[in-house]
Amino acid sequence: MKISVVGTGYVGLVVAACLAENGNNVIGVDIDEDKIDRLKRAEIPIFEPGLEEMVKRNLEEERLSFTTDLPTSVERSHILFIAVGTPPGDDGSADMRYVLDVAETIGRSMNGEKIVVLKSTVPVGTNERVHDAIGKLTDHAFSVVSNPEFLKEGAALDDFLRPDRVVIGTEDAKVAEVMRELYGPFVRTGNPILVMDPPSAELTKYASNAMLASRISFMNEMARLAEKTGADISQIRRAVGSDSRIGHPFLFPGVGYGGSCFPKDVRALIQTARELEVDLPLVEATERVNEAQKLILVPKIRKFFGEDLAGVTLAIWGLAFKPKTDDMREAPSIAIIGEVVGAGVRVRVFDPEAMAEARKSLAPWNDKITYCRKSYEACEGADGLVLVTEWNEFRNPDFERIHSLLRRPVIFDGRNIYDRERLGQLGFTYFGVGRG
Ligand SMILES: NC(=O)c1ccc[n+]([C@@H]2O[C@H](COP(=O)([O-])OP(=O)(O)OC[C@H]3O[C@@H](n4cnc5c(N)ncnc54)[C@H](O)[C@@H]3O)[C@@H](O)[C@H]2O)c1
Repeated sequence: MKISVVGTGYVGLVVAACLAENGNNVIGVDIDEDKIDRLKRAEIPIFEPGLEEMVKRNLEEERLSFTTDLPTSVERSHILFIAVGTPPGDDGSADMRYVLDVAETIGRSMNGEKIVVLKSTVPVGTNERVHDAIGKLTDHAFSVVSNPEFLKEGAALDDFLRPDRVVIGTEDAKVAEVMRELYGPFVRTGNPILVMDPPSAELTKYASNAMLASRISFMNEMARLAEKTGADISQIRRAVGSDSRIGHPFLFPGVGYGGSCFPKDVRALIQTARELEVDLPLVEATERVNEAQKLILVPKIRKFFGEDLAGVTLAIWGLAFKPKTDDMREAPSIAIIGEVVGAGVRVRVFDPEAMAEARKSLAPWNDKITYCRKSYEACEGADGLVLVTEWNEFRNPDFERIHSLLRRPVIFDGRNIYDRERLGQLGFTYFGVGRG
């Protein structure tokens, strides 16, 4: 099939590469000229395992190409994916400017029948808005399909190539058939392609993210209680997750969720509900708990060093919002670093992939931050170590070396990845989350 994917960010680039990998002819389109120039040379602007090889392979096979020329791409394609950003506006609602811009250019460039696929996460009702925006500008037949994406950064290729389910929002049976044909190769093990009306498809994405976020916030709330009672949330998590009705994923307490999806999608859902005068107390609480949770380590840091933190230096391991990505959007590290630096702390930071992005996200505090090239370099001369993002390489480090590098052997474990008994034996003071 002849496909254009508009927006070559974390989602669009994966969608374009994976569809090309399956034999389709795909054009990746973006307004960012620098990004497109780099992609033409198979230089990947983001860190996503396996993506570079896949893009390279498909560029060489000429199934994948990149351009900034959207009108020509529209003319050359039958299926047009919109995968541009939907960042939060001032009131928390999703900013639809980029999606509607693309829709209008599509409308002006139509030269035959097209299927427009909304891959971006968009509020309920957007399918209709996009349909109207295009319909005003063309007499050609077209259909707008809502097809939310559920991939996780860090495992995006696998998630797209082997999805748990594919959601297709359309009332048009013929279009549904084309989408089934497109996605068929990805669900050969029998995972469902769920065809539904567009509003249900749009809301499914928000419901999924709000559910996952609420599991994290729920466990973070339990962690706060566990800590006060002397219980250990890590033990509780294992037992709770073993219940087959509950399961283990997304029950890990820590410094809260971040990233480009959960925070903004939870807020956008709250805003949609407000506009429709529907109360969502559970979703609102999920967001509130998470905001507080990002700073959960700060009182522990004060407990150890004293209320006055001026002159303290902390090593920070992990800056990206989660492992295996360089994405810094709404990363808890930003809130933690902002808070401690505001209290007079200097920080020495290290992340295996997110250093370049971190310099941009942490720019307001750059004069108080030392960006280190190695994890142990961050510990040199620091008073203590704060683990924020649980990259694999931080899981089993050389604790004796850390002990010798830190001025005071204390570890604040924001993801509960360390064995506190062992650290105690090695002479460390240990603070986790929810471990009384
Ligand atoms: N990142 C994720 O893990 C994830 C997962 C599922 C869904 N989503 C959703 O997918 C959408 C895209 O997210 P992302 O993380 O890939 O965003 P991103 O910011 O990484 O990428 C968006 C891209 O769109 C481009 N763009 C903006 N306006 C454009 C225009 N008019 N024409 C062409 N290109 C344009 C930008 O230059 C950028 O490259 C969002 O709605 C997001 O909520 C993201």
